[in-house]
Order: sequence, then C-alpha cells, then structure tokens
Amino acid sequence: MIHPVILCGGSGTRLWPASRKAYPKQFAPLISEQSLYQMALQRLTGEGFAAPLVMTGDDFRFMASEQAAEMGLSDARIVIEPAARDTAPAILTAALLLKDTPDAMMLIAPSDHVIGDVPAFLKAIEAAKTASETGALVTFGITPDRAETGYGYLELPQIPDGPQAVNLNSFREKPDAETAQQMLDAGNYLWNAGIFLFRVADIIAAFETHAPDLVGPCQGAIDAGAEDLNFFRLGADDYARAAAISFDYAIMEKATSVMAVPLSCAWSDLGSWDALWQTQNPDENGLVAIGAVTALECTNSYLRSEEDTLQLVGLGLDNIVAVAMRDAVLVADKSRSQDVKAIVGALRAQK
Ligand code: GDD
Ligand code: MG
Repeated sequence: MIHPVILCGGSGTRLWPASRKAYPKQFAPLISEQSLYQMALQRLTGEGFAAPLVMTGDDFRFMASEQAAEMGLSDARIVIEPAARDTAPAILTAALLLKDTPDAMMLIAPSDHVIGDVPAFLKAIEAAKTASETGALVTFGITPDRAETGYGYLELPQIPDGPQAVNLNSFREKPDAETAQQMLDAGNYLWNAGIFLFRVADIIAAFETHAPDLVGPCQGAIDAGAEDLNFFRLGADDYARAAAISFDYAIMEKATSVMAVPLSCAWSDLGSWDALWQTQNPDENGLVAIGAVTALECTNSYLRSEEDTLQLVGLGLDNIVAVAMRDAVLVADKSRSQDVKAIVGALRAQK
C-alpha cells in the first residue's frame, strides 16, 4: 500500500495575482476546472493507494478539505502545521504519523505541479516501488532543458532509457547559475521533480541519522496534537522548535542509499506565468489567451482574464503577460516572470 502525502504549504508568489497568500496557486483552477491540488489527489487515488495525508497550514485547511470532499475523498486526513517549517519537518511528521506501519510506502507529492501523462507517471512509481523495497530513498528525475537554479539536480552514472531506478552519484539542491550550466552541459544530470517514494521506517531512520534534531520537535508536535473538527492539529510549541529546512537540504543531499527513476510525463512545476504559458499550448504566434480576451496582432504573450465581464484587449503586444482579476491586474514583461515575486514583496511593504 502506498500512502500519498500531499505537500500543500507554499504560497506561490510568482503567480500573483492568481495566487495569493490566502489562496495559493495549488487551490486555483489554473489549467482546468480542477485545481492543481485536486489533480494531484486524483492521480494518487485508486488501487494500491491508501487515503491521502495532506500536510498543510492553518490558512488553507478549509480549502484543502473542501476541495478533497468535492472529489469524493472525504477520507483524506488533513494535518495542520501550526507554522510553516518547510518540507523536512512536514515529511518527517507524516512519517511519524505512519510509524505503526513501518513497511508501508509513502509517496511525497507536491500539490502545485502539472503532470501531463498520468499513465507514464504511474509506471515510474511502479519502478520506484521495487527500488524502495530494497531500502532506497527514491526520487524522480526530469530531463533538464535549461540551467534552472530553482531546482535540485540529480547526478547519475548515466541516464537510463526508460523508467528504471539507478543509484545516484550525488544530489545538489539549487545550484548557482554557473554550476547549473555545467551540470546541464555534462549531460548526466536530471532535475529533481520534488516527488519521493520510500518506506516509512527507512525515512525515519534517515532523519535519525541526518537530521536528528527534527525528530523530537515533530514527535512532540504529534503527541501534543489534537483532533479539531475533521483535522489533526499539531502542537504549536513543539512544531515551532523544528528548524525550517527543506527536505532536499536536510535529507536528500546527505542520504547515501538514494536512487532515481527518470520521469517522462510532461512534468511542469508551474512556477511562473512563463511556465504556465508553455504548458497551455501557445498558438502559432506564441499567444495564449484565456477567458474574456481579445488579442490583435499579439505574439509570444499570455493574456488572461478571470472575470467574464472584464474584457482584456491586447493590441500589438509581444512577450507580455497580462492577467486581469477583479481586484488586481498584472502587466509584465514575460521574460521577467521570475521577478513577479518581488511585486508581492513590494505590495506587502506598502501595507
Ligand atoms: N506542508 C507543507 N509545509 N508544504 C510545504 C511547505 C511547508 O512548510 N513548504 C513548501 N511546501 C510545499 C509546496 O507547496 C510545494 O508543493 C512543495 O512543498 C515543494 O516546495 P517548494 O517551496 O515549491 O520547493 P521548490 O520548488 O523550491 O523546490 C523543490 O521542488 C523542485 C521541483 O519543483 C525541491 O524539491 C527541488 O529539488 C525540486 O527541483
Ligand atoms: Mg516549487
């Protein structure tokens, strides 16, 4: 049995104004009627999967439970982190909640990714399962197409043809631009997809070895936790004692028995408007128009109106992102998509 653990804590500021602090991107219906979170749940439902464990924050708990219930998944277990401490404490806490079934597998899945080819994704999980039965911590790798500095990199002896697990030489989280370029040129690196599979006992042992200081606070937060409606709320004082660190830095860079399975499943982490533009099939002029949009002679642009009554009209635009919502409009140079998060910082500073 695989226990899906859905990570649902980030705020996704680069997709402002569709993604807000109180309504982060994973809950927004960005590319279909379903939100990215619902699509993540959907992929991991059915034979072989236990009810999902959703790790989220106080602000998001009702969205997380309502959107799960909309999918008929009222058995989803929603765990509230009293404060965001990044992914290492979230994953360790999930593992400790499952520790009575040490041989069970956990699949860690971010809630804000797009996976175009779900059958290919499930096939890769099958390959990973076999590897994790030998005690390996398994990660999934994406063929890189640019020297992205926002991702982790997996160094493999060589890249296998299909979905098959290979031992990792090294794991490098968020390299600088120069190192990222070297890894891209070397040809034997994959991007870390941020999806992981392992047995409960193996990951707890890895935390005990590489991040022992997290174990006490996370176990304490469970012991001091309480049921609250249909949520499980972790103890705030204990959880606050856990260092805020990502799983990639705390465990993956340090662990020794790590394997990777290549994932060819049209993956995108939808980190920015530019990524959304690529995912949503630009026409022959490179234009993506969503909602009440009229575009004349516009090229390489992403134009989106969230309101039926809010006409967004573009004339002669090139390389522009324009997103109109009832209470906010973004107009930006599309090549500055990564800098949209700076806007959020600037807006916060004005308040
Ligand atoms: N529950 C919970 N609590 N979830 C969290 C928290 C937290 O405190 N912080 C982040 N998350 C969730 C995010 O919502 C997202 O779904 C996932 O965990 C990963 O966090 P990100 O903050 O988006 O990580 P990243 O994109 O910088 O890097 C990770 O993903 C890349 C691929 O998208 C790393 O795993 C990289 O190595 C990887 O390449
Ligand atoms: Mg991310």
